[in-house]
Order: sequence, then C-alpha cells, then structure tokens
Amino acid sequence: MIDLHCHILPGEDDGSDSPDTSCRMAAQAARSGVRRIVATPHRGTRPDRERGRAAHLRRALGRMQAELDRWNIPIELLPGSEVLLSGPDGTLPDREELLTLNDTDFLLVEFYFDAPASDMDRRLSLVEQAGLTPVIAHPERYYCVQENPAIAGAWAERGYYLQLNKDSLLGSLGEAAYLTAALLLRRKLAAVIASDAHHWRRRTADLRPLLEELDRRFPGADPDLLLRVNPGRILRGLPPEFD
Ligand SMILES: [Fe+2]
Repeated sequence: MIDLHCHILPGEDDGSDSPDTSCRMAAQAARSGVRRIVATPHRGTRPDRERGRAAHLRRALGRMQAELDRWNIPIELLPGSEVLLSGPDGTLPDREELLTLNDTDFLLVEFYFDAPASDMDRRLSLVEQAGLTPVIAHPERYYCVQENPAIAGAWAERGYYLQLNKDSLLGSLGEAAYLTAALLLRRKLAAVIASDAHHWRRRTADLRPLLEELDRRFPGADPDLLLRVNPGRILRGLPPEFD
C-alpha cells in the first residue's frame, strides 16, 4: 500500500518529533503492508516563511530515507507537503517553492476546519489557475462539509480529489467526521484514504485497523483501489479511478 499523507519528517511540524519516532512510525506502516509513504509536512502560503523551505525539506527527506535504510525498514519516502490554503495570505508560492505530491501536478491542500465554503472554493480555484489539481485532505473534518456533504460532492465534480483520513473512519476524530467520511466513502466520492499520521502512539501510520474496519463496516469500499491503485496513480501524475 501507499500512504499519501503522513507527517513523518522529524521536527518539521506537529508530527514526528525525532528520527526515532519517524522510524517507529515507518516500521508500523511497513508491518501493516505499506511500502511507500509520501512525507507531507504542513506548509503555509506566506512567501517570507516558505522561501527556501522546499529545498530544506528535500534534504530532510534524504536524511530520513538514509535512516530508514540503515535500520532496514522497507519504506520508500517520497516528497510532498500539505498546504494550508486558509489564512491571510491567499496566494500560492511559486512552483519551485511548492512540494507537490511526488513532484506531479497534484497538490495536497487543507483548510481551517471552520473555513467558509465560499472561501475554500476561491482558494481551490487559485490552485487550478496555477495548473495544479487539488487533492483535498480530510474533507470530512471541515465543518461546512459536515453540515452539507454536497459541498464535497461539488468538489469531486469539479475534478478535485478527496482524501479521507484513516482515523476519521475509525471514529477517533469525532462523530461528525466519522459520519461524513462514511457518507463520502459509501457514495464513492473518495479517491484515496491515507493515515495523516503524526506519531506511533496515536494518529499512527498503522493501516491494519483501517483494513479491518473497511472489511467489517464498508463492504462496498475497495481497499486496493483507495490505498494502492489510486495513490499510485496520483504519484505517477495520473487521475485516480472510481469503481
Ligand atoms: Fe495532515
């Protein structure tokens, strides 16, 4: 499997706090059947804060890969980021400053949970104008989508892709996130499920509980499509498929 959204780079955001934590996260992922993880540290859109950070993150990725190799943890790390589009500065950094998913035209994006839908739409259009396709991280966590899931349906119709969080489907991110994720999954609007892991104790990169939950409660969902085929297509720059 491929994990398209994971805060595994140590010390870069509120995810992993050390190389040791990152190794434990990767080992858990590997034991659950993951072979590739996209490192997606949080980023913003303020040019003064983001300048030079892409190169820094690529170096950090190389160092972490060497550490995984040293411990024989069979995980390949790939470059990426999770860009918070909300905030006062509503412009995207230049392309060379962005870290798209494995350097494709797909950009993983997120918003404040209480962002208004109209504001999200406007900022998603900016991504499109930059020639990129948004992969929207955890749509089920945004209050406007929880209130009106048709908002996420409209995003899917516009050609944006929806990434559900493992922990939403496991119920550990609250009832509203669970119900919304379940609805998006059952309506086959989700392209990908990913861990959005931050640690090895909670919000982990272990996909086994998710596979069990999908088997038990979502027999209509195709784990192979959501956890291997579609993230793999995105990493090759190809659009996800829907069954
Ligand atoms: Fe995230």
